[in-house]
Amino acid sequence: MTEEWGTILVVDDDADMRELAHDLLKDRGHHVATTGSGEEALKRLAEGDYAVVLTDLRMKGMQGTELLAQIKRDYPDINVILMTAFGSVETAVEAMKHGASDYLTKPVKKDELVRVVERVLRETALRREVNRLRKEVHKEYSFHQILGKSKAIQAVFELIRRVADSPTNVLITGESGTGKELVAKAIHYNSSRKEGPFVPVNCAAIPEQLLESELFGHMRGSFTDAKADKRGLFEEAQKGTLFLDEISELPLMLQAKILRAIQEREIRRVGATKPVSVDVRIIAATNLNLSEEVKNKRFREDLYYRLNVIELMLPPLRERLEDIPLLVAAFLKKCGLAGGKEVKGVSESALAMLMDYAWPGNVRELENVIERAVTLSRGEKISPDDLPQAVQGARGDRRVLDEAAEKSLPLHEIEKEYIKKILDKTGGNKYQAAHALGIDRKTLYRKLAEMEGKPHPEQ
Ligand SMILES: Nc1ncnc2c1ncn2[C@@H]1O[C@H](COP(=O)(O)OP(=O)(O)OP(=O)(O)O)[C@@H](O)[C@H]1O
Ligand SMILES: [Mg+2]
Repeated sequence: MTEEWGTILVVDDDADMRELAHDLLKDRGHHVATTGSGEEALKRLAEGDYAVVLTDLRMKGMQGTELLAQIKRDYPDINVILMTAFGSVETAVEAMKHGASDYLTKPVKKDELVRVVERVLRETALRREVNRLRKEVHKEYSFHQILGKSKAIQAVFELIRRVADSPTNVLITGESGTGKELVAKAIHYNSSRKEGPFVPVNCAAIPEQLLESELFGHMRGSFTDAKADKRGLFEEAQKGTLFLDEISELPLMLQAKILRAIQEREIRRVGATKPVSVDVRIIAATNLNLSEEVKNKRFREDLYYRLNVIELMLPPLRERLEDIPLLVAAFLKKCGLAGGKEVKGVSESALAMLMDYAWPGNVRELENVIERAVTLSRGEKISPDDLPQAVQGARGDRRVLDEAAEKSLPLHEIEKEYIKKILDKTGGNKYQAAHALGIDRKTLYRKLAEMEGKPHPEQ
């Protein structure tokens, strides 16, 4: 445990004090290094990885306060504890204001030294962990996580790169499940606002009468349920990005207020007399054709132009089939990691179906289909049977004919496939199937028996 907390550097020109601190901390299982001057300490810091510096305030040469200042400037990650002789406590308090984590008065009590150093060590470890996790989150949403090698998606990457750092508002359009939210996050986490918040709002999910107070906040007593002042999502997104999802669902009255917020860079909480200024970048998304909504007077034209400074159109999955194998592999891996069940791949015929299906729900639907298939699958590979009926249905159509022609399949083979498909469609009802095939029921029974290599039961 103590090892993960990192190393302590003790700095004191008094050798006895160095030894005392070293032994005390070492006994507690910590990693400790010692040095006799501030100058020497800086050299050590440049070479190694330290978590906490415990330094004397008054030394020959560089003073503790100066060392503190340099550490805070060059190694903001390292925490500093000062040791000071009785009588210079004021200097120590002053040093706290300049970023020291704590101080100890000399003569130092042993248990106090251990207690203070360990508390600061723990804080340092925690903060480093938080920073590490935050970085990981950034990585997850960086556009490298948006998968795709198709030209269409590569063009999206390029556009994300170009717009991320500009202050302009962006409108993301695309069918449901094409990755609009993923792209919005990628833009935010690749922009200079990345340290600020990313605040998503689904305009369709919040009841109309609550939307204004959700977006702009309210003052206590401004309506019956307003028991206290409340910040709205605009204020929550201060210095960050507000993601207005399903923007077409915004009532006209609120469209006007959002327009004002964008133009004036300030908002007014419900019931407030004074405005609050906001520094927020807006990314909006819709799966409708917003210009069509403008034409039909359901969406304000002026707001449309404000939001649509740059439009990012996400292509539907069926227009970038070459991305499917890549996405399938990624989702298989994700399911394996999450569920413990490892499915290594997809059979050729199952993949053909995945490539042939129209994916009305786009990447989200593909992800769900793979998750379901992994649950159902009994083998190492996903087979056609693990796919939903709708996707299996895609096996017919042009692909079967294309492949049949490619392989110069004999007619009876194609007939067999076709009969199977029609039977699938009728749920096994032979009467309906015969009707659809334009043959009588007897003929169908005969053909089925032939297909199974059995004599006809009615013969
Ligand atoms: N290119 C991609 N690479 C990897 N995963 C993707 C990609 N596009 C979408 N996804 C995944 O698909 C799912 C749907 O994406 P997202 O929620 O961003 O879509 P959306 O366009 O906002 O959908 P809706 O219009 O239904 O809100 C998410 O789980 C997302 O991680
Ligand atoms: Mg969405």
